[in-house]
Amino acid sequence: MIDKIVHGNSIELIKELANNSVHAIISDIPYGIGYDDWDVLHNNTNSAYGGASNAQLEAGSLFKRRGKPLNGWSEADKKIPAEYQEWCESWASDWLRVLKPGGSCFIFAGRRFAHRCIVALENSGFTFKDMLSWEKNTAPHRAQRLSAVFERRNDTNNAESWQNWRVANLRPLFEPILWFQKPYKTGGTIADNVLQHGVGAWNEAALRDYLIGDYYDKSSNIIRVAITSDDHGKHTAQKPLALMELLVSLVTKEGQVVLDPFAGSGTTCVAAQRLNRHFIGMEIDARNCEIAKQRLSDSYQTKICL
Ligand SMILES: C[S@@+](CC[C@H](N)C(=O)[O-])C[C@H]1O[C@@H](n2cnc3c(N)ncnc32)[C@H](O)[C@@H]1O
Repeated sequence: MIDKIVHGNSIELIKELANNSVHAIISDIPYGIGYDDWDVLHNNTNSAYGGASNAQLEAGSLFKRRGKPLNGWSEADKKIPAEYQEWCESWASDWLRVLKPGGSCFIFAGRRFAHRCIVALENSGFTFKDMLSWEKNTAPHRAQRLSAVFERRNDTNNAESWQNWRVANLRPLFEPILWFQKPYKTGGTIADNVLQHGVGAWNEAALRDYLIGDYYDKSSNIIRVAITSDDHGKHTAQKPLALMELLVSLVTKEGQVVLDPFAGSGTTCVAAQRLNRHFIGMEIDARNCEIAKQRLSDSYQTKICL
């Protein structure tokens, strides 16, 4: 599987990887919030779920499908967070098994259910090491004005009384990146683990090379990177290449192996390839696999032409 994008269900495919065979796992996993079809990890449907209202259709590509309200539509909806945790537990022990002792695992897990992912990985044996904050310049956002609802009801008193109040969330300008570590030998030192397995420390040059903005030092766990026009259009949840390069170079050295079991359009793998790491990408959607393979081929050609 090395240096390939493998088409299939990673929860099954990962069983083919040997114990302690990868140096880092870096993955933007489904957040379980119904963002797209691949992000629906529960069976509670409803005639309105996933459909679109006229207003949503008019809004174009953003907010084009109806999600569940945070409050849920039924009692079954209250179980969605716990079901997300169970889903994370269905693969976490294999992630632990294939990672080298002391190896890092970075997960993009979404703000609402990140805690479920943390508990699932902790229950499976990982150490939860830290949480990075990836700051974005923009984020799609819709928080309806409460007064607009009352105006539609011709309730002018309440429309006035609730001026400036909104429902839904604040603009989501940061995303958490969860940082886990596979425990190393009890009683041993991390320095000895680094010598034995090549992982366990982090490289401050990665932060100096990729962080932008005015952070007073370059060892901050708040991350902002440059975004280019290539960082859009290949996947609905595409992550910036510079961000993935930062994470790859933060915890691996040249020649080491990076695994992404939810590869999407392959951004993690492209980052690994550009930085002379080996990679294994797994992706369930055949179209995404083709896009990822094309990106890898283009980036390889660019590299050998330099
Ligand atoms: C958040 S997206 C990753 C996007 C990626 N960061 C990028 O830059 O393109 C998650 C991906 O996981 C894939 N996926 C979902 N369940 C999967 C599974 N069981 N096995 C492999 N891939 C899966 C989805 O098809 C989706 O492309």
